[in-house]
Amino acid sequence: MGKNLLKGKRGIIFGALDENSIAWITAKIIHQEGGSFVLTNAPIAMRLGKIDELAEMCGSEVIPADATSIPDLENLVSKSMEVLGGKLDFVLHSIGMSPNVRKGKPYGDLNYDWMHKSLDISAMSFHKVMQTCEKLDAMNEWGSIIALTYIAAQRTYPDYSDMAQAKAMLESIARSYGERYGQLKKVRVNTISQSPTMTRAGTGVGGFDAFLDFAKNMSPLGNASAEDCANYIAVMFSDFTRMVTM
Ligand SMILES: NC(=O)c1ccc[n+]([C@@H]2O[C@H](COP(=O)([O-])OP(=O)(O)OC[C@H]3O[C@@H](n4cnc5c(N)ncnc54)[C@H](O)[C@@H]3O)[C@@H](O)[C@H]2O)c1
Repeated sequence: MGKNLLKGKRGIIFGALDENSIAWITAKIIHQEGGSFVLTNAPIAMRLGKIDELAEMCGSEVIPADATSIPDLENLVSKSMEVLGGKLDFVLHSIGMSPNVRKGKPYGDLNYDWMHKSLDISAMSFHKVMQTCEKLDAMNEWGSIIALTYIAAQRTYPDYSDMAQAKAMLESIARSYGERYGQLKKVRVNTISQSPTMTRAGTGVGGFDAFLDFAKNMSPLGNASAEDCANYIAVMFSDFTRMVTM
């Protein structure tokens, strides 16, 4: 049952592919909490996924955008403000993909074109989203921007491959842009480090079941589910965390 934590707040949610996606579950919770939003994903994912189902449940519009493409992002951000009737209060970046991981390339035999893709899709896109929002003056003061990360940004996890570098870059971008956007517009920028979760992106990582058990045993409270993560995101988009950044 919602508590109207996000009543009147407007935003964009990237990355809802299917009902297991962290972004999908977060969209449902934000909707329950009274927030309104545009849903977006890469054009190819639109065809594979079922984002329209989610849009119907949440009364949202879907605007496709490849998060690595500036023209797509400009179109997305400006149209979202039109559709939602004003500037944005929140943005969820829930995007990750490594062709090297997907295609099972060993870490000692990476394809560097693919590595570029991993970094662009999973990390640089976060900068592109924020730079586009800044240039279009799309964020309200005290807005909140979140990206999802993983502890492999800071520790060694063999099967996480070049996604570890992508997440390290993502976290670094959050700090650099958080400093800038806070000064400019009091917009806060954070990453949330999620437990391993059974999603399409998650299960691309080799030895995923062992990964789940290892993470569970390491964590005093066990693994956080996608719902736990979504609840945390909702709080981070609310005014209860307005002084939390970077
Ligand atoms: N599942 C896990 O174990 C886990 C753990 C920690 C962090 N995360 C992070 O959570 C986020 C969401 O992943 P998920 O687990 O929900 O998996 P998911 O596969 O459901 O979501 C990943 C999304 O990224 C989108 N995407 C890929 N390329 C894109 C592009 N060029 N432009 C726009 N969107 C693109 C996909 O279409 C998909 O919707 C990712 O950043 C992931 O790294 C996941």
